[in-house]
Parts: sequence; structure tokens; C-alpha cells
Amino acid sequence: MINLPTWDQSLINKYNVSGPRYTSYPTALELAPGYTQEHLVEAINESNTRVLSLYIHIPFCHQLCYYCGCNKVITRHQSKADVYLDHLEQEIKSKAPLFNKYTVDQLHLGGGTPTFLTEAQMSRLVKLLNTHFTFTSSAQRGIEIDPRSLAPNMLITLKELGFNRVSFGIQDFNDDVQAAVNRPQDKQAVINIVHQAQTLGFKSINADMIYGLPLQSIESYKETIEQLIELSPDRVSVFNYAHLPERFAAQRKLKETDMPSPHDKLTMFKNTLERMLEAGYQFIGMDHFAKVDDELALAQRKGELHRNFQGYTTHGDCDLLGLGVSSISQIGNKILQNEKDLKPYYHAITVEGCAITKGIALGQDDMIRATVIKQLICQFELNKRTIETQFNIVFDRYFEQALGALQPLCDDGLVTMNNETITVTSKGNLFIRIICMCFDAYLQNQIKQSRFSRVI
Ligand SMILES: C[S@@+](CC[C@H](N)C(=O)[O-])C[C@H]1O[C@@H](n2cnc3c(N)ncnc32)[C@H](O)[C@@H]1O
Ligand code: SF4
Repeated sequence: MINLPTWDQSLINKYNVSGPRYTSYPTALELAPGYTQEHLVEAINESNTRVLSLYIHIPFCHQLCYYCGCNKVITRHQSKADVYLDHLEQEIKSKAPLFNKYTVDQLHLGGGTPTFLTEAQMSRLVKLLNTHFTFTSSAQRGIEIDPRSLAPNMLITLKELGFNRVSFGIQDFNDDVQAAVNRPQDKQAVINIVHQAQTLGFKSINADMIYGLPLQSIESYKETIEQLIELSPDRVSVFNYAHLPERFAAQRKLKETDMPSPHDKLTMFKNTLERMLEAGYQFIGMDHFAKVDDELALAQRKGELHRNFQGYTTHGDCDLLGLGVSSISQIGNKILQNEKDLKPYYHAITVEGCAITKGIALGQDDMIRATVIKQLICQFELNKRTIETQFNIVFDRYFEQALGALQPLCDDGLVTMNNETITVTSKGNLFIRIICMCFDAYLQNQIKQSRFSRVI
């Protein structure tokens, strides 16, 4: 069970550096060219599970939010989604037969904005998936929703199509902030849509929020969080705005002078953390909160929480198949990624029925480190003996260097270590990324290229 986070300003000054989010280990930055459908087949044959989590990427959005770091395509042409679905259909038809021994226990539609699709296009996609994959009767079916552009009957249609989980992008309720990031949204409309989802019986309703956006102030963000708590979502992601203007051109449109200072940003997160705990949410880790009776919070208390490319999840033990442009799969010991841009994705699907372009095959060392990092980032505690038994290693000898890197963090009270366990303390759980970084063999190279966002 995670210790309640505490705030220690001197530690924050020292440790608030850049670091990976560890939605996988090795991280997606390590993926290299040269991977194809053959590697997927190999991965399936080597995998010891026959339970599947499906991720479908729908890249389209109607309007560009300037802060956005997602893989998306801005368009007003609805017919582009028909063309996309034609290619997705081909990809599904070529991949699904490889998974005929699997049952699908989790489906997630992400983006971009999956609800860019019309109700007819959404029905087409779901029918395709139902025809070509075998779902368990209790499968979780989730979808990311932009509440600003939701067709009037879409929530009802989604329910009828079998979706039982929804995630709303809210980000901030303040009108000035919304204008600065080119994401105007009517507060009352958002409230009505979340209420409708609650009335329709969707479970684990999630809200995405961001702190660190232009024109946000400590006061304005407090108000935003109050309004959010009133809405009572089951889960909340409070993302630290990742500002990487060299990678995402639209972020250059945001005025540096409008950005909250590092001090204000930290205060926003601190206030949010305290207020969310007070309002009865459990801190799951990094930027996630869940009501104490939500599955995610229960899974963490039971030691069954997982983490994959979609973040924290209750379903990490299954293989993950990603379909659509830029999507990532993790099957057995391999991580595989599709083409990131639409044109090459369409070309590859048309010519080969498969758009896998990059990947990595995890070696034994990767597997050991991935297990350690996942355990720490999900449970905030690690039993060395469990890892020793699982991988036939002597933990302290195998991780001599990592434990050396961890020692200063231990001296600063971020972790405690003894012969048996490594435990993240209440002071340390805000720095879980830094703690995991001690076990990351690839890191030195990445840090040099400064390709990560700050941890808080
Ligand atoms: C695919 S979007 C969610 C669905 C929909 N497109 C929307 O915006 O409502 C995924 C989430 O990523 C987060 N996000 C996007 N760009 C980000 C950035 N630069 N830093 C932090 N979070 C970001 C936002 O909270 C957003 O809701
Ligand atoms: S935040 Fe969502 S709606 Fe905005 S551009 Fe990114 S993916 Fe599209």
C-alpha cells in the first residue's frame, strides 16, 4: 500500500528533474527500426498468456489544442475517418487471425479524439472488432471523449455498443486558460455530459486535467479543482504539462510570459494533491487519483495494479495489441510500434496489411529491470526475494550499481532499504520516476538528449 505523499520543498528543489514516465521499460525511445509482422508472430508464439488488451488509435480532432503532445491529425473532413476505418479494417483482418486463441478482456479507444467518429462510423468499428476478436463477457470497453465535440446521442450509442468506461478531457475550467490554449469549452455543457455518463451507468469515469498551462494561477487552478471535485469523477489524471516545443510545433504558439512560474506550478500540484486526498481520493501514483472504492484503488491496495502504455491499469498481465497509426503493442517479450504518420501507415497497410515499423525484443536484463520498475511504480514497495526467485539472481549483487545510485535517495529519506525490501516513503512517492531511474540501464544516453519532461 502506498504511503500518503508528503511535501518537502527542499527535496523538490533537489529532485524535480526530467525523467521518463515508465509506461514501459525499456521506454518507447529505445524502439529501433527493422521490425515486421514476423516479429509479431514470433512474439505471440513465445507469449505465455492468451488474454488480450486491445488499443485502437483514432488520430482525428476537429481543432488543435496548442499544448497537445498526442499523435493527432486536425481536420474538419469527416470522410477522412471513413478512409482511416477502411485501413483499420484491413489491419484488423490481417492481425486478428493471429490472435484466434486469445480472448479480449479490455478494449480502449484513444487518440486524438475517438469521438471524432460519427455514430455510424463508431458502430462500424465496433462491429468489426466484435466480428474478428472474441471478447470475454466481462470485458472492459473504454473510450476517450472530448466533451466539446460530442454528438448529442453519442453517449447513448456508446453504451448500446457495449462501452462501459469513459474518459473525458477537461484540462481546465477557466475561460482565459481555455482561450490561451485554443480549447474553448462551455463549462455547463461539460458538466451535463459527465452527469449524463453517470446517469447512464458508465463505470470508472475519468477526467484528464493539466496543470502548468498558460494563464493558470494558483487561485484559478484551485477553482478548477473545486469544480472538478463537485463533478465527482471516479478517477482523475492531473497531468503535468509537458512542454516540448521542439517536438510539438503548436506549443511554440503559447506565450512564455503567460506560463506559470515553477513555484506556482508546484504549488498548484501541492494544493491539488492535498485537496484530492481531502475529498476522499486515493493517490495512485505519479499523476493519478481514484476514489477509494474504484477498481484502480482496490487493485493497488491488493498489490495487483499494473502499468502499460495507457498508464495505470488493472489489466497489465495480458498481452497488448495496438491497432491504428502510431499504436504500440506489447506481446510476450516484444514491444512493436506502427508507423507514426498517416501516409506511411496507409501505404504499409495497403501493401502489406501490417504497419509495424519499430520495435525491441526484451532480453533477460530488460525483463528483470522491467519487473523491478513496474513493481516500484505500481506498488511503491519491492520484495527483493520475490525478484531473486523469479529470475534466479542475487538481488544485491545484480543491482549493485542501481543500489549505489539509490543510496543518496535513501539518505534523503525518499526510500528505505533493508535486506528484504525497498520501500518508497511518503516523502519519496512524488519522486517515483527518479527512484525507478536508478534501475534503468538505458538512461544515461537519453538524459544527455534531454528527451523527458520534469517529474512534477
Ligand atoms: C487524447 S487526449 C484525450 C481525449 C481528447 N482528445 C481530449 O482532448 O479531450 C489525451 C490527454 O493527454 C493530455 N495531454 C495532451 N497533451 C499534453 C501535454 N503536452 N502535457 C500533458 N498532458 C497532455 C490531456 O490531458 C488529454 O486529455
Ligand atoms: S488535447 Fe485532445 S482534442 Fe486537443 S489536440 Fe490533443 S488529442 Fe486533440
